[in-house]
Amino acid sequence: MNPFVFHVPTKIAFGEGLASGTADIVKELAGSRALILTDKPLMKTGIVEQILEGFADMKYVIFDDVPPDSDVDCVNKVADLARSEECDCIVAIGGGSVMDTAKVVNICLTLGGEILEYQGLNNIAEQLLPLVAVPTTAGTGSEVSMVAMVKDRAEGKKLLFGSRYLAPSVAVLDPLLTVSLPPKLTAATGLDALTHAVESYTAVISNSVFTDSLCIDSTKMIFENLRAATKDGGNIEARSQMLVASTMAGVAFTNSGVGVVHALAHSLGAKFGTHHGIANCIFLPHGMQFNMDAVTQRYAKLSRLVGMSTSSKDTVAASELIEAIETLCTDCGLPRRLRDAGVPELKSDDIEELAFLTGSDPAIMFNPKECSPEDIKGLYERAY
Ligand SMILES: NC(=O)c1ccc[n+]([C@@H]2O[C@H](COP(=O)([O-])OP(=O)(O)OC[C@H]3O[C@@H](n4cnc5c(N)ncnc54)[C@H](O)[C@@H]3O)[C@@H](O)[C@H]2O)c1
Ligand SMILES: [Fe+2]
Repeated sequence: MNPFVFHVPTKIAFGEGLASGTADIVKELAGSRALILTDKPLMKTGIVEQILEGFADMKYVIFDDVPPDSDVDCVNKVADLARSEECDCIVAIGGGSVMDTAKVVNICLTLGGEILEYQGLNNIAEQLLPLVAVPTTAGTGSEVSMVAMVKDRAEGKKLLFGSRYLAPSVAVLDPLLTVSLPPKLTAATGLDALTHAVESYTAVISNSVFTDSLCIDSTKMIFENLRAATKDGGNIEARSQMLVASTMAGVAFTNSGVGVVHALAHSLGAKFGTHHGIANCIFLPHGMQFNMDAVTQRYAKLSRLVGMSTSSKDTVAASELIEAIETLCTDCGLPRRLRDAGVPELKSDDIEELAFLTGSDPAIMFNPKECSPEDIKGLYERAY
């Protein structure tokens, strides 16, 4: 067996209605003045209000204006607010945009200085303030991951922060919070989780039995429940399976990395604002096809283990996994080409710029096959 290291720094708790006890979790972490982060659409759902009831006997300040694909300006603004209010813990209620913002705010709040000093991998070397992550989408895995991304809008790119100290202290998984997520976002975030599982299963350092088990089971759970969660948002069992699957895939990828599909999605998101899950669902089959010769056996094994193929021929079983992903996306109403997802026509300059961003994205380091600039350009052209 290959040597490996496996981390799960986050305490993971799951239960229907669990989020209403978030304040108690904060108290257990010795938080006395919480910074609560969320976004405007979530405020309208009533989810946040319900959680805030538990904070009635605690001091807190709320910032409810985190934008989708949050940015450095938002982080600096929130960090100033938290400093002036002397907050000693953070609660993130939302999807990946809110959770990632909370993680980067935590860096500024705990360590001070300029946010850009800490970007990249392992530039944070000490414990941060307690952070409780309450995901309201089932997709990003940010509630357990050791990474966060926010946009540098001026530079037109996404900045990555990676350190084991970024993993939230507690992940509060309450499927009732995901009921209000509209079908398209349910499907798109579900495909983000599936992309984590598939890319993590084939990433270059994906050699641990722990990550393999998480990838296999989460892939199976997503195939079995995403259609139901998308079709009937009130199906609590499907919502529960999706939420837990996305956290499992999050634990997997944060230990083993992702790959070219994420590098493409990050770059497209930085340039055109395409939702991360939508970008992933379009790029995933193309990325898998590109990686096919390097990891045919791995795709074939995954395909059989999750019930997508009975073929003993690896090439057939691997192709059947890609076909099954295509069918899942179509059944969930997801766009299959970038042009159908609001991406404007890609001119050669755009493709050059995107290829440069993709080639320098940290996710690509973990891809099982080398990607040349020409390979990357070809992927954009095929996906368009
Ligand atoms: N740190 C990580 O490990 C990691 C991994 C993958 C993605 N990400 C990041 O996560 C971000 C995407 O996150 P996301 O896909 O969760 O989307 P999001 O957080 O951007 O949310 C999308 C929209 O859905 C709404 N929403 C969220 N939950 C809802 C609910 N329950 N009911 C109704 N509306 C709801 C939000 O208000 C928002 O308008 C990207 O910035 C991406 O880079 C981070
Ligand atoms: Fe992702």
